[in-house]
Amino acid sequence: MHPEPLTGETSINDAVSFELTGAAGLIAIDNPPVNAASHSVRTGIRQAVEALQDMSAVKVIAIYGKGRTFIAGADIREFGKPPLDPWLPELCNFLEISDTPIVCVLHGTTLGGGLEVALACHARVALKGTRVGLPEVTLGILPGAGGTQRVPRLAGIRTALDMITGGKPVSAEDALASGLIDRISEGDPRAVALQSAQDLLDGTLPNRRTGALDTKPDPAALDETRKKLDRTQPLLFSPQKCVDAVAASSLPVTEGMKEERRLYEECMASPQRAGLIHAFFSERAVSKIPEASATPRAIDAIGVIGGGTMGSGIATALLLAGLPVTLTERDQAGLDRGIATITGNLDGAVKRGKLTAGARDDILSSKLKTSTDLGALSDTDLIIEAVFEEMSVKREIFETLDKVCRKGAVLASNTSYLDINDIAAITSRPADVIGLHFFSPAHIMRLLEVVVADKTADDVVATGFALAKRLKKIAVRSGVCDGFIGNRIMTFYKKAADYMMMDGASPEEIDTAMRGFGFAMGPYQVVDLAGLDISWAANKRRAATRPAEERYIPIADRLCENGWFGRKTGQGFYIYDDTGSRPNPEALAIIDAERDKAGIAPRAFTAEEIVSRFMTAMILEGSRVLEEGIALRPIDIDAVFLNGYGFPRFRGGPMHTADAIGAAELVRRIEDYAREDAWYWQVPALLRQIAENGGSFAEMNDRG
Ligand code: 3HC
Ligand code: NAI
Repeated sequence: MHPEPLTGETSINDAVSFELTGAAGLIAIDNPPVNAASHSVRTGIRQAVEALQDMSAVKVIAIYGKGRTFIAGADIREFGKPPLDPWLPELCNFLEISDTPIVCVLHGTTLGGGLEVALACHARVALKGTRVGLPEVTLGILPGAGGTQRVPRLAGIRTALDMITGGKPVSAEDALASGLIDRISEGDPRAVALQSAQDLLDGTLPNRRTGALDTKPDPAALDETRKKLDRTQPLLFSPQKCVDAVAASSLPVTEGMKEERRLYEECMASPQRAGLIHAFFSERAVSKIPEASATPRAIDAIGVIGGGTMGSGIATALLLAGLPVTLTERDQAGLDRGIATITGNLDGAVKRGKLTAGARDDILSSKLKTSTDLGALSDTDLIIEAVFEEMSVKREIFETLDKVCRKGAVLASNTSYLDINDIAAITSRPADVIGLHFFSPAHIMRLLEVVVADKTADDVVATGFALAKRLKKIAVRSGVCDGFIGNRIMTFYKKAADYMMMDGASPEEIDTAMRGFGFAMGPYQVVDLAGLDISWAANKRRAATRPAEERYIPIADRLCENGWFGRKTGQGFYIYDDTGSRPNPEALAIIDAERDKAGIAPRAFTAEEIVSRFMTAMILEGSRVLEEGIALRPIDIDAVFLNGYGFPRFRGGPMHTADAIGAAELVRRIEDYAREDAWYWQVPALLRQIAENGGSFAEMNDRG
């Protein structure tokens, strides 16, 4: 074989080209950014293989990807559109039956349909560092191009079940150990393709048709997985279908493939698929902001003010991302508490295998500095304030920051509800002030609301988004209002839950109904966890401006008056002890007493009605948040709830759910509920307009 190309590259189309090198035909895929197996890639590979098969000099074919990865999967953007030939499964079968042997070179993230293409080839070589996986289940589907049939044949049923129902990619080393790939190599993909072609020809790489292998039966693994999924993911549709498809791998491959296709199409038609794919795109859509072209300011050192719940969590997140942090507190005792929490968080990361013990010690000895003097922040590039939620305390802090911080430093507040414009006005540099609203626990939760005030500079907004990326968090742009996107909508729908509680539903019934809908926790479990004292303080703050028409439910305040703040005090709506949690009978007695006082005869609520009222309230306030321009698009609201509030991912978020219910139906429900409380249940103008035009929230996403 000749080491250099003899003929140069021949392009089949924009995405695929081939070249001849001695007896080897090399096929290159070039479809940035992730070489998704779009129509041009599929036709390109097919035509390139056909062209090479026709050349008598070609004895072996190697396929590789240009750019950052081999094929990262089917092109998700084509889902839901009429399929174009050749389908990916057909392409895979076509590769498998090729008489000219084909080796595939994997690099980057070889996922989904990308791995399936590779499995249909006759040998597989991965570059060091490659990750391979079948993440389809996270999109509500199953591997539909032979993955469920070929992985069990190469790696066994148990590995197939783990990869296909778990969706998590594995390392090249694990893939080699399980038999999915044949070798790990180093070098650039083209050079490895050339070498691998030679080796396949020489017989130093195995040359097999995967479909011709037998699957070793393992009924116990199938049974265990089904039971585990019933227990852990009872609401999800596609995981069980994945197991069914893997079970079909005991059939001859053509029959197994037919069964895989049938199950794949069932998943494709499921609303969960649409919800999960919407969730996938929402995480990418949120970074498309008006300030995206601004250059972020350099962030090399960060100050965090306050070492309480949030400050210590934020500091942990920053330290884990490799950023040096200076933490300040009111006194040494506050600092000691903060350091202890951070140390505990880092110890947790070591236990979970996310950090080595050495790296933890290094962070604590050289990356974390502490001080009781705000002057210590004079050389930091970004300061995140996380002190008590009191304007007077924040005022003092920002007045001092204005004096001590260097010019161009970004001044951020983690406030939950306070007005960032008011905070900015405390300083002589409002353009540098922004809200960076983290969620508790800040080193775990993925959401970061970036709150943009009237005078915030574009590059400060871009800095917030760049920081989120460094922390591997999902940043969502929010305008200024009481509670920003998430807490504002939550405050509103919490009232709908309280009204149902006052009118006859127990907190447990409401929580059970919302968990049945798919929420990780019900609303009363959430307030018990967050601490009832937090909303109590907000209720007191809002009391003076609460409109006379608003129906106010004082039940949570009564609990707080007894010192019951939820989990941290051992009781709230539930009692918490060593045996777990159970409804708090004293809380139920308070609810009864308040109903009596208000002359309310409790009535029954079905789970369906609870979900309907809860979701309608959520969407109602979401529409207002859009109308006011607080959120850029419906999909931003979806991203907030999916990543910060435990909203079920398979439902795609509240505004995606709104489209599934339909605007006209939502208007009908609101008007129906308004007969009881016309102040709370008012149809937002935007929702009415969408209902009248027969439109959808999704159209607003498309408009960008
Ligand atoms: N189809 C279409 N577009 C895709 C895509 C895909 N499979 N994967 C990624 N993209 C797009 C993203 O939307 C993004 O577009 P944008 O720049 O316009 O926002 C761009 O590619 C870059 O993606 P990321 O920002 O996510 O880049 P990262 O480097 O962070 O991550 C990745 C790369 C790990 C490949 C990640 O994008 C990913 O996990 N992609 C999805 C992989 C997947 O689920 N594959 C299975 C598809 S289903 C399938 O194959 C069905 C088959 O069995 C029949
Ligand atoms: P916390 O009470 O746990 O911590 C506040 C810390 O600030 C205390 O350790 C206190 O000693 C310190 N502090 C007070 N004044 C200070 C000063 N002048 N200088 C330095 N440190 C000072 O409160 P938490 O929960 O951490 O909240 C902090 C901020 O984060 C608040 O604005 C809150 O609204 C917001 N927030 C809270 C969330 C939560 O779930 N707890 C979630 C998101 C935001």
